[in-house]
Amino acid sequence: MSDEIKIQLTTTPGNKPDSSNLSFGKYFTDHMFIMDYHIDKGWHDPRIVPYAPISLDPAAMVFHYGQAVFEGMKAYLTDSGKVLLFRPDKNMKRLNQSNDRLGIPEIDGDFVIQAIKTLIEIDKSWIPTEKGTSLYVRPFIIATEPCLGVRSSYTYQFIVILSPVGAYYSGGLEPVKINVESSYTRAVRGGIGYAKAAGNYAASIKAQEIAKKEGFSQVLWLDAIEKKYIEEVGSMNIFFKIGGTVITPEINGSILEGVTRDSVITLLKDWGVPVEERKISIEEIYEAYKQGQLEEVFGTGTAAVISPVGELHWNEHTMHVNEGKIGELSQKLYDTITGLQSGSLPDPRNWTV
Ligand code: PLP
Ligand code: COI
Repeated sequence: MSDEIKIQLTTTPGNKPDSSNLSFGKYFTDHMFIMDYHIDKGWHDPRIVPYAPISLDPAAMVFHYGQAVFEGMKAYLTDSGKVLLFRPDKNMKRLNQSNDRLGIPEIDGDFVIQAIKTLIEIDKSWIPTEKGTSLYVRPFIIATEPCLGVRSSYTYQFIVILSPVGAYYSGGLEPVKINVESSYTRAVRGGIGYAKAAGNYAASIKAQEIAKKEGFSQVLWLDAIEKKYIEEVGSMNIFFKIGGTVITPEINGSILEGVTRDSVITLLKDWGVPVEERKISIEEIYEAYKQGQLEEVFGTGTAAVISPVGELHWNEHTMHVNEGKIGELSQKLYDTITGLQSGSLPDPRNWTV
């Protein structure tokens, strides 16, 4: 894609939200990036325009067959006024993996990163700077062709919106109560679990709502076939520290390969902490708990970064992890990753751009 990005600036800039009360994904900046795809033209007409509703035909295929994928990353404003993105190349690679699985045409990752940089520069004054806050970047692609035939759409829109966000969990870094989900399944190997596809989130909502009603923050998903092996927690990857070793489920086709997951594994290895990517069953976790070996449990994802688990419920069993307190390793990972992302720590791996 070599088209130049056309820019149309808003004449009615919005009011910025109070940065002490942002929550997650409720406010949007003044502009958005859009480009279109047509099967005969490829991706074309990249443009930055005022943030506004989009108009779609009621027969647009996304409404009927769910061809929709998205990404999520965060931008930080450093003390010296530079804007930092964290490993955006990983998000672009994953977006193209999602595209491939959903029958959506590939995007040019380098071009999109450039477009995102231009968009953020225009809306730079929206980046909040209070501790724990950032600008969440949400690229997504939808099938727009009006057609009720079941096949891949001939037209798409790629859009990037920006949202100033606070901490994902309003209570900040705070251990959460999790229920192990024994009936519902998020994803199955051979399905679309490894893609960041909208449908995966639709599939997860019912179990999440039930868990919320029962007083839990999220569910822990087991594999769909044996209902035995751990997959993810809510919409995050999960890690267990057992007897000094950190274990995370291996990438298996139904788990999303998180950027934060990869960063955590890399950091742990650098620090000399033993890490294993392998199958791990809920029985193994419970056995470790009974033997006093279950030291820490935490979820990892862009939105929350690190989310410690304080309590894990599995059928009639309740496991209190680290007495419900934030684990030392969870805190160190959170501080290190947010430090790298916000530019307050040196970045020897050149993860930020
Ligand atoms: N798993 C799911 C299902 C997710 O939606 C996310 C969030 O993006 C993650 C894991 C964590 O991925 P990342 O660390 O790239 O945000
Ligand atoms: C994450 O960043 O961890 C997410 O799961 C994003 C979520 C809002 C879909």
